[in-house]
Amino acid sequence: MNDPLIITIDGPAGTGKSTVAAELSKQLGIAKLDTGAMYRTAALVVFREGVDPTDGDAIVQACAAHELLYDLSTDPPRMLLDGKDVEPYIRNPEIGAIVSEVSVPRVVRDVMVRMQRAAAEAYPRLVTEGRDQGSVVFPDAQARFFMTADADVRVERRLKQLLAAGRPADASAIASEIAHRDHIDASREAAPLMCPDGAIRIDSTDMSIEDVVDLMLGHVRAAVRGA
Ligand code: DC
Repeated sequence: MNDPLIITIDGPAGTGKSTVAAELSKQLGIAKLDTGAMYRTAALVVFREGVDPTDGDAIVQACAAHELLYDLSTDPPRMLLDGKDVEPYIRNPEIGAIVSEVSVPRVVRDVMVRMQRAAAEAYPRLVTEGRDQGSVVFPDAQARFFMTADADVRVERRLKQLLAAGRPADASAIASEIAHRDHIDASREAAPLMCPDGAIRIDSTDMSIEDVVDLMLGHVRAAVRGA
């Protein structure tokens, strides 16, 4: 029951990864890692300090002057920048506009990958979501998933999520942000967004969150007895 259990969920924005990861972590009683929040926090530092979002060395240097910590001890877990919860800032449009550029340089990714693997050392039972978790960071995970969904459904979901959080939202702005990020995330050289070899691909276009979670739980239980 306490054997290591790493579940990875990769995929583009708006496919339902975060909601599904939260639900899986709840149902299995294991920790959850939102790796997008880590890149978003680096983008926040870049934004606040006027760093060039394409200059990897400058980004790493700027981040090194701060403490970036993914705090798994709280429910939900959250990203702390110098001890302060950054959740109120990292989903803002100005961060969405630069986070993919900030995530391109290999030197930036190396910092984040170290943070992710350190989290898995401390919390060996973990569901982690992002773009490269099953392909690069945890290729030996017990269960690896790749989520997709049709573009219009992804925009619709993001719109609902923002409105539910009381944030301003506009469908055409969301559509162009998602398309912009998908393009950069999938075409970068280091750890591009892709379905990892051997991962289970789930198209959530016509599926409810409950259906996706049940499907994943079935795969996890088949892969790991007693999960
Ligand atoms: O999951 P998200 O939308 O919060 O992620 C924001 C950006 O962070 C995404 O567009 C690309 C980057 N990212 C990444 O490059 N690798 C990850 N594992 C997670 C996110």
